[in-house]
Amino acid sequence: MIKSLIALAFATCATFASANAQSYPSKPITIIVPFAAGGPTDVLARTLGDRMRVALGQTVIVENVTGAGGTIGVTRAVRAAPDGYTVSFGHLGTHVVNGAIYPLPFDLLNDLEPVGQIGANPMLIVSKNAVPAKNLKELIAWLKANESKATLGTAGVGSGSHFSGVYFQSLIGTKGQYVPYRGTGPAMQDLVAGQIDLIVDQASNSMPQVQGGKIRAYAVTAPKRIAAAPEIPTVDEAGLPGFHILLWSGVWVPKGTPKDIIAKLNAAMVEALGDAGVQKRFGELGLELPTRAQMTPEALGAHQKAEAAKWWPMIKAANVKPEG
Ligand code: MLT
Repeated sequence: MIKSLIALAFATCATFASANAQSYPSKPITIIVPFAAGGPTDVLARTLGDRMRVALGQTVIVENVTGAGGTIGVTRAVRAAPDGYTVSFGHLGTHVVNGAIYPLPFDLLNDLEPVGQIGANPMLIVSKNAVPAKNLKELIAWLKANESKATLGTAGVGSGSHFSGVYFQSLIGTKGQYVPYRGTGPAMQDLVAGQIDLIVDQASNSMPQVQGGKIRAYAVTAPKRIAAAPEIPTVDEAGLPGFHILLWSGVWVPKGTPKDIIAKLNAAMVEALGDAGVQKRFGELGLELPTRAQMTPEALGAHQKAEAAKWWPMIKAANVKPEG
């Protein structure tokens, strides 16, 4: 009798979950972006969300939950109901590097389920126009001459702009001060205004300002130049060989989200990435699309774990702390 009741209970739950998935999405979906509006993560999420709305036939809302290098927003997503209506948007910094810096109240590699990789871009070393340097070697000399007076904008400890800045300064032996913002959108505003000196920034965030002559780019952290900005040399050409960073972004949902709901979200993401308008926008921003094989949930999960194996030893050796 008991066994048949338990079997009935499981069958009922399975039917309920399946019915839920069949009717999914039946209400708006929220994408949590862990940085301020106007930055590269926000722009990427909104570009993608606008097109996923069409594929899903449901409103997609972007909510900016900022602070602590993105960990506040990711924590909010981890704690959300595993029903497919809360999605965590982030990148190498928020979903890998922060695991080696912050005492997170969850398991960064296992308490979120991967949905798929969105795209990747290298970083650009950019400065305010008033910095008296015309190439990377002159910039490095200026940073050394200005010791700790120079300022580097970041999106908080552990953000892409922060760990890229730490890596950059460790290679050139300087100790410029990090100025944290709630995202590199606000940091860029201060760079254009000349309030800070430098950002090692996602290319997608800096490109519009570089092309508008508002800031100066010195090099791209990749072995080849960005097709949309062939005038910017690689770090190898500019005198800092091997300083390669490719900041990739992805989408996750809370652990326990039903597999067929993850499959629906992944299908909508793949359709959005196949959209000509999305691809054009990505190209203009210097964002590389993942291959179809890289777009699967399994591929993102494997990539995230491989990146943790690569970056965590380096970050822990650098003894980077949440307080900076
Ligand atoms: C980062 O620095 O991690 C991000 O680019 C910040 C942002 O997206 O605002």
